[in-house]
Order: sequence, then structure tokens, then C-alpha cells
Amino acid sequence: MASYGSLLLACCLGMASMHVVFVAQGSMGSAAPQTPNQATGTQLPGAPGLEENGVAQTALRFGGGLVLGLVLLACGKPSFADVEDVVIPVDDKGKTTTLTKEQVVRGKRLFIASCASCHVGGGTRTNQNVGLAIEELSGATPNRATIEGLVDYLNNPTTYDGLKDISEVHPSIKGGDIWPKMRTMKQQDLYDMSAYILYQNQTIPEKWGGGKVYY
Ligand code: HEC
Repeated sequence: MASYGSLLLACCLGMASMHVVFVAQGSMGSAAPQTPNQATGTQLPGAPGLEENGVAQTALRFGGGLVLGLVLLACGKPSFADVEDVVIPVDDKGKTTTLTKEQVVRGKRLFIASCASCHVGGGTRTNQNVGLAIEELSGATPNRATIEGLVDYLNNPTTYDGLKDISEVHPSIKGGDIWPKMRTMKQQDLYDMSAYILYQNQTIPEKWGGGKVYY
């Protein structure tokens, strides 16, 4: 969107500069016949200077508009172009992936619908000690700071030490009979939500989790 905006602005600036060109030419047109009409052959001392000045000014304005437009184009880089640059850990062995804009949007939508009631902003309302920040996820057993770790948790959640099954206490596929929203979830949905959690950790690390709720 931002790039379209600046493109539009660049066009407008260009048009404005063009307008200056026409106006300048118009005034020059009316000035031009005056010069021969002086008949004596002595040109108006100011005329050529005026003309040059007008052209130079027009060029300057047009160039200025162009440069400004280009600068705006460069600055107005859409933020979603960066989605592909965020590297998300997939497993413990160092495998990573990147996401598409659609995947992030999908993960966010699912997360808001099914998880945000308890995990808004990456915290955990009912247990402030077990939030969705990287430090907390990676301190769990097994490590939950990867897509696979999180998907595993959503299939079959355990206590932080990994020892006790909590599928009846936490939304899960295993406890689907108690968690209606989880009953219809596909593995791809779990994947996208997990990717979204890790994406948020990298893009807004100071806000995501950490016990504070930001909106
Ligand atoms: C009813 C409230 C509730 C809902 C809804 C909920 N959670 Fe949780 N979540 C918790 C609580 C409480 C814990 C802490 C569990 C514990 O004591 O170990 C937790 C823990 C977690 C953890 C482990 C965090 C860590 O640091 O180890 C993950 C991951 C997680 N939730 C993801 C999700 C996702 C994804 C969803 C949406 C599908 C979801 N949760 C929905 C309450 C909820």
C-alpha cells in the first residue's frame, strides 16, 4: 500500500511540475511576440535572461519533484516485503523456514480466534510464568521454541517439565472432546499458529510475552 501511495504522490508531483512547464511556456509564448514587435531590433535586455531562468527553474522543479518522488518511493517500502526475511526455526536440528504474508495472516487469525482469550500479546493470563516469549518456550522440556515443538504441544500438551499430560487442561487435539475449537483444527492450522507465535517473537520481541499486555 505504502508504495502505491508514494507512487501516486510521485505522479502528482510530476504532474505539478508539468503544470509549471505549461504555465512557464504559456507566459513565454506571450512574451515572445513582444520581442520582434519592439521593431528597433534592440531586444529587451531582460528577455533572454528571463527565458533561460524560466527553463532552468522548470527543470529544477521537475528534477526536484522527481527526486522527491523517488526518495518517497524508496522510503515507502511496504512492511510486508520483510515477512519473507524473518527466519523461523522449524526443529531442534537447525532447520529453518520463512513464511508468506498469507501464512502470517492465517496464523494470526487462528491465534486470535482460539488462543488470544488466554494468550493475548503472547502472555498467559492464567499462568504468568508460562508465556509465549522465546525465553519461556525454549526453557521448556522438550524445547517449544520451534514450529515442531509448538505443534507437538498443541497436539499433546504437557507440563513445563514435560512430565505430565495436560491435554484436558489446555486446548489440544488429543483433548478434542473437551476443546471443540481444536476438534476441527488441521495440522496445517497448528503449523500456521505456531509459525505466527515465533514470527511475533522476532518482529515485536519487546512486546510479545513478557507478562505485559500491549494492544
Ligand atoms: C483457556 C486458556 C488458554 C487457551 C484458550 C490457550 N491456552 Fe495456551 N496456555 C494456557 C495456560 C494456563 C498455559 C500454561 C500451562 C502450564 O501450566 O504449563 C498455557 C501454555 C501454553 C504454551 C506453553 C508455553 C511455554 O512457555 O511453555 C503454549 C505454546 C500455548 N499455551 C499455546 C497456545 C495456543 C497456540 C493456543 C490456541 C490454540 C492456546 N495456547 C490456547 C492457557 C490457554
